[in-house]
Amino acid sequence: MRVKLTLADLSGLPEGSFVRYTPIKMRASQNPWPIVSFKHVAAVMAETLKGDWSGLATVREFEARFKNYIGLPYALGFCNGTSAIYSALFALDLKPGEEVLVPAATFWASVVPILQFGALPVFVDCEDRQYGLDPEEIEKKITDQTRGIVVVHLWGIPSRIKEIKKIADKYGLWVLEDASHAHGAKVGDERVGRFGDISVFSFQTSKLCPAGEGGMALSAHLSLIEKMVLYGHYERIPELKTEFHGLAATGLGYKFRMSALSAVLGLVSLSQLDHWNRKRKERYEKLTSLLDPKKNGFLLSPAGTERVYYEYHLRYASAAPDQIDARIEALNRAGISAQRTRYPLLHQQPLFTSTLWREIAERKGARVPQDFNYSGSLPVTEKMA
Ligand SMILES: Cc1ncc(COP(=O)(O)O)c(C=O)c1O
Repeated sequence: MRVKLTLADLSGLPEGSFVRYTPIKMRASQNPWPIVSFKHVAAVMAETLKGDWSGLATVREFEARFKNYIGLPYALGFCNGTSAIYSALFALDLKPGEEVLVPAATFWASVVPILQFGALPVFVDCEDRQYGLDPEEIEKKITDQTRGIVVVHLWGIPSRIKEIKKIADKYGLWVLEDASHAHGAKVGDERVGRFGDISVFSFQTSKLCPAGEGGMALSAHLSLIEKMVLYGHYERIPELKTEFHGLAATGLGYKFRMSALSAVLGLVSLSQLDHWNRKRKERYEKLTSLLDPKKNGFLLSPAGTERVYYEYHLRYASAAPDQIDARIEALNRAGISAQRTRYPLLHQQPLFTSTLWREIAERKGARVPQDFNYSGSLPVTEKMA
């Protein structure tokens, strides 16, 4: 039976209702994401009809709701998570030749922007059974040039952020928390994204809170948010409390604002985030209970944390590479999208195994010592991948 719904009917759906609409291209797949609800469709239609597609009203509403959800006083929306990371590094005053401690198992945007400031990522090994930076390994890599640490809560598993924060405080380093995989995860009673000097989220379509493309930077420090405004949000410069109003007509050469249509998608996804995080947990636990723990290894969260479930990861205890490939193919044939680890380890990529990283950093003003290189290994990270 076909039911004709008007925009008013759709907009009137109560908070949290999940009338589900599956786009045609996704019907064949058994694990579609995002779950497109009629609330998304209605909200985009309503936003479109407003006509203010580059306006900030809906972006500001999304910023306000998201910062309340995380529990921080300030948030700034971005066109994607990558531009939020660039802006954060600018606000944290990263300079040529300085070093930033980073994981190797992450999406490139957590790490590569550092080179564009003439600064140098220094890869640190991760913990066994999860991909978070190992606090002990962090201390071994700190030098006179170290200025900060990028912490990534990979696949929704919180890193040991409180211990890492303590180390950062001890050595006077900043922490940039990349929570792009972990919307809603908790450490104790606090949501991840609350711990860094700046935290960054991505709302790209595959993420737990999808908005098409979009990002957000959050902080407890207004001064850091204001520097990020200066970097890529010229239209907000007149609102700044700092003395930079003279830059309102030019900005500093970047334009990073979030689209109103992304913001409205993000608002709906945020209203559904806890629901889908619960569903993903239930499904993860059910699937895991069906698998033999002797043959399969699972990523584990550190004690006292509540993870979320961005992707399902399995480590075979003993399987030849061709057996793994055969299993991946079988899953894909069954309509379940599966693959080997999605992020190739960054320290093994041509950007770092060739001299390209050095050329970029030096062009941006670094004087890189001759003996600085990326030839070392990260035994735990490499074993995990
Ligand atoms: C860990 C991590 N950081 C940063 C980003 C960058 O976000 P965006 O794709 O929105 O630029 C991503 C996106 O995939 C990511 O996975």
